[in-house]
Amino acid sequence: MIIIIGCGYIGRLLGARLATRGAAVTGVVRSAESAALLPAAGVQALQLDLLADPPDALETAGADVFHLAPPPGEGREDPLTARLVDAFAARGQPRRLVYIGTTGVYGDCDGAWVDETRTPRPAADRALRRWDAEERLRAWSRETGAELVILRVAGIYACDRLPLARIRSGQPVVIEAEAPWSNRIHAEDLAEVCVAAMEKAPTGAVYNVCDGHPSTMTDYFLRVAAAAGLPPPPQIPLAVAPGKVSAGMLSYLRESRRLSNRKLLDELGVTLRYPTLAEGLADCFPRV
Ligand SMILES: NC(=O)c1ccc[n+]([C@@H]2O[C@H](COP(=O)([O-])OP(=O)(O)OC[C@H]3O[C@@H](n4cnc5c(N)ncnc54)[C@H](OP(=O)(O)O)[C@@H]3O)[C@@H](O)[C@H]2O)c1
Repeated sequence: MIIIIGCGYIGRLLGARLATRGAAVTGVVRSAESAALLPAAGVQALQLDLLADPPDALETAGADVFHLAPPPGEGREDPLTARLVDAFAARGQPRRLVYIGTTGVYGDCDGAWVDETRTPRPAADRALRRWDAEERLRAWSRETGAELVILRVAGIYACDRLPLARIRSGQPVVIEAEAPWSNRIHAEDLAEVCVAAMEKAPTGAVYNVCDGHPSTMTDYFLRVAAAAGLPPPPQIPLAVAPGKVSAGMLSYLRESRRLSNRKLLDELGVTLRYPTLAEGLADCFPRV
């Protein structure tokens, strides 16, 4: 039994991959709209609000569980993961859980290269929530003996997940020399990594999931604009960014790190289909 908790955009890609191999996959989502999208991916929908509904319909005993449901948007803890752990106690412990977290847990690293040995120093609330989820799941794994793999995922992109609306609206980016490093992974590669983590990773392992080719956030926007044939966004000094960009974007501008994916490639044997942004964008905007 395979269960995808939080079976949204990535969950549907992952579910379709698993279903093609003949696996029976259940996807948990909150809304009827999201549930309606799952049959086309070969996934059986289970509509359940994990923050509010009793988990009676969850059949988790011995299951392979992918946990992709994000924490709520406020606070420094992740009550959804806390409730999920309680649900496992009530409904049966999974065999293994693969958690899709974020690289935000490392906090600002001043542009340094970062591998999984780096001590996490989450600072933003969104990162503290993710760290809380990791810590809860580690405690759960220790206490129950269930297997756990943690994926710290960089910015996800795909042809239908590019910042085209932002670029079209003319919002500014920070001048390249002052822009932080950012890291990416193509959605298809992330889905493949999820499968490999479930099948091959040693329990307790943590992996950075990124393509290993960071560039500045400004470089990302400029290259997407160029590939899409859009005008480049205007560039502003970092000092004037507050008030000109969203609070969410500002919080990303405060953190800079370059993430290594060496462990992912070496230990899980994954070959990325999109090893750099160039391959990803070429796929979205093929030149005729
Ligand atoms: N965006 C990035 O660059 C990035 C980077 C690193 C990690 N991530 C994380 O990667 C994960 C997968 O991303 P994604 O793009 O596939 O996200 P997504 O499309 O938003 O999917 C998340 C799913 O979780 C479900 N969910 C949320 N709260 C729930 C609740 N209380 N009960 C039951 N289901 C609930 C949602 O259901 P409904 O649709 O019905 O609400 C949705 O199906 C997310 O945790 C995301 O935060 C994203």
